[in-house]
Order: sequence, then structure tokens, then C-alpha cells
Amino acid sequence: MLSGTATPASEITRKVGDFGTQEFVAKRGESGATASLKDAFRDRFYVGTAINRAITTGAGGLRRSPEQVAKDIAQVKEQFNQVVAENEMKWALIHPRAGANGYDFASADAFVNFGLSNNMYLVGHTLVWHAQTPQWVFAGTNPPPAGVTNSTARAFANTNTFGTNRFGRGGFGFGPYTGPRASREELLERMRDHIHTVVGRYKGKIKVWDVVNEALADGGTNVLRKSLWLEIIGPDFIAKAFQYAHEADPEAILRYNDYSLENPAKRHKLITLIRSLQEQKVPVHAIGSQAHLNVSTGYEEMDQALTEMATLGLPIHITELDVNSAQGGQRTTGADISSNATTTQGGLVSDADRKLAEAYAGLFRAFIKHEKSVKVVTFWGPNDANSWRANGKPLLFDGNNQPKPAFAAVIAEAKKANAVK
Ligand code: XIL
Repeated sequence: MLSGTATPASEITRKVGDFGTQEFVAKRGESGATASLKDAFRDRFYVGTAINRAITTGAGGLRRSPEQVAKDIAQVKEQFNQVVAENEMKWALIHPRAGANGYDFASADAFVNFGLSNNMYLVGHTLVWHAQTPQWVFAGTNPPPAGVTNSTARAFANTNTFGTNRFGRGGFGFGPYTGPRASREELLERMRDHIHTVVGRYKGKIKVWDVVNEALADGGTNVLRKSLWLEIIGPDFIAKAFQYAHEADPEAILRYNDYSLENPAKRHKLITLIRSLQEQKVPVHAIGSQAHLNVSTGYEEMDQALTEMATLGLPIHITELDVNSAQGGQRTTGADISSNATTTQGGLVSDADRKLAEAYAGLFRAFIKHEKSVKVVTFWGPNDANSWRANGKPLLFDGNNQPKPAFAAVIAEAKKANAVK
């Protein structure tokens, strides 16, 4: 049934009586897994993964030999029916320079070709974000507002820079931007050109776009995070981004994506933002909930989060799922993205595998309960070795592509749910 086709999960008709006896996998795959995630959840939601350049091109990566990458590729094909590029479509990579020759499409094209040739549902990530965006985007001739000095601009280190952490590697070497700025009109025009060009290039191929990423403020009472997008354009930068994306591909599902939505205060900001966009008839079609979690987040918290987010009436996509099995290191509301990648060092709990399995079982129970809303569940990487939080061993497969107890726990939840249907 449906093997190898990218039939949208929403269009799959559930056959009563088809469950309980269903075998998820006939053969033992490359990973040694005896089941596949995509088959186990086939009638509920897509199960996807972020993939990087090494996987889409088959070349060895920073931390993976060509032999390991070959296994990663086999594992991705065996387990997942949806993919998203981990980095290759971010502004800094796909559009590093201003001007006519400013775009570098090669890696993004490789991602799209990989997904299409494997019949996978393609997600594009991400069009407008405060991070991994080159400084030229914000540069112009307007003096920065009074009070913006090097010292205050360092406050932007969380928002518009890539610093000396993992973001600093791989040619993202930008510092805080304190120079003269573009006008609102200039920045809107750059945003429009970027969105029209990128979305237009992959029109009909990429089905879902993360249009705006992480615009919500973590602490405090402000709904929106301080960023150059907000400061230069104003709060309607979000509505404009969705409008441009909708113009470029009216069929694409346009997503607002953010993290820590398990945190009630941040989730309420999300609801405020999305309601306001809906009142303005902005074409926002889905909520992306990153779900960078740790083992303390289980069924109840996820159930509560999904229940509240579902009141918006939009599909919910779990967009970047990983569960840190180290103590600490969850992406808290205070932690910025870059520190998050490093706080996973050390502190691995002795029974990490068991705790991880329990956490994942609870999360998938919640996804299954909310299957009317949850349409996509994407892991942020195929296995622990290529995870951005590798030290936290946060995924279902280990660095040798072998399934961990958490994998079996997730499959067991699917079988349980399918048996009672
Ligand atoms: C991360 C990637 O996984 C890393 O390789 C990169 O160095 C930094 O970005 N939220 C997002 C993703 O929306 O784009 C981030 O991905 C993780 C947090």
C-alpha cells in the first residue's frame, strides 16, 4: 500500500479493519531496524527528517566518512517520507551576496533533487529569520538609531549574528551589525526579491515553506523578538513575508515556525501572533512547532501544548523534533539557538536510553491523540551523529545508524494505536 509514493497523509483514507494485523516492514533494512517510521505512521502523518549537504550529494561530511554517509542515505530512504534541508535554504547559504549573482542554488537544488527522486514530501526552511542571514541584507545608508553602539549592538548577538559558536563555522562568520541600515522600503524589496526568487524556483516541488522563523520573544512581555527585521520594517514584516510567499506559490502551505511552544508563556505569544495574522487575512496555513525538547517533556506537556495550539484551527507540524537525553540543555525560553547547541555537553544520565524511550513514547502518544491537527512530524536529523545536538544523543538512531530503544518505543505506540482502530 502506498509504497514509495508521496501521497499527502491527509488524503490517505484509513481502511477500517486494516489495522492490528498490519506488518510495518517486511525486510530488515540497512539500519538493522525491523520496522519503518514512515510505514508505522503512514495513515496519520508524514514522518520526516532534516538532511544536510553530505546526504543530498553523497559526499563525506565534516564528521562523517563517505561510508557512513552512504549508510545515512540508506537510513533516510528506509525510514522517512518527508525531508527538509537542515541549512541549505537559509538566506546565508542560498543568497549570500547582494546583486545579480547573489544566489547560490547548487546545494538547495541537490536537496530538492534528492527528495524528488525518492518520492518524498519536501519542506523548505526558512525564508525570513534573524539568524543565518548575511549582514548585507540589513545594510544601507540610514544611520542606526540613537543609542545603537557596539556595546548595545552586542545585545543582538543572540539575534543577528553567528558568532564563534557552531554558527561561526562553515563560512557564516558575521559579527553584530551596527552599521548604517537599509530603509523599510529597501528591506521589504530585498525580502520580496528573495522570497519570490527562492519560492518561485521550487514552485510545485516544495510543498511547505517555513516563511517566518522564530519571530517571538522569549522572555518579557513583548510578543516579538528584537531583530533587525522588526526594527527596520516594523511588526508587519511577518505579514509581508507571508504575502510575498503566497504570491510566489499560491499552492504552497505556508508555515510560521518557532521553538519552546511547550512553554505556556511563549505559546500564548504564538496564539496572539497567529490570531492577529488571521484577523488580517494573512495567508498563514500551518503552525510549525520545533520541539527541541529534553527527556522531562512527555505526554502531558505535549498534549496541553497541542490542545491549545489546535484552537487556532490550523494544521500543526512538529518541525525539528529532538529530545536531549543529557540533563539540561533543553532549549529553554532564555536560551538562544547557539548556546543550545553546546549546552548538551556532559551529564548524560546513566539510564539515558530508557528515559529517552519513555519521553518519545509519551510525545508520540500525544501526536497520535492529536492526529487531526498533527500532519507532519520531522526529526532534526536522521541519527545522533549528524544531529546539531549530537552530544545529547537526541534521536531514535545512534551514530552507527542502529535503532535505539526509543525507536522501538515509538513503533510500539504506532502499533498500539493502530490495533485499537
Ligand atoms: C541549526 C542547524 O541544525 C545547524 O546545523 C546550524 O549550525 C544552526 O541551525 N532552529 C531552526 C533550525 O529553525 O534552522 C536550526 O538549525 C535549529 C534551531
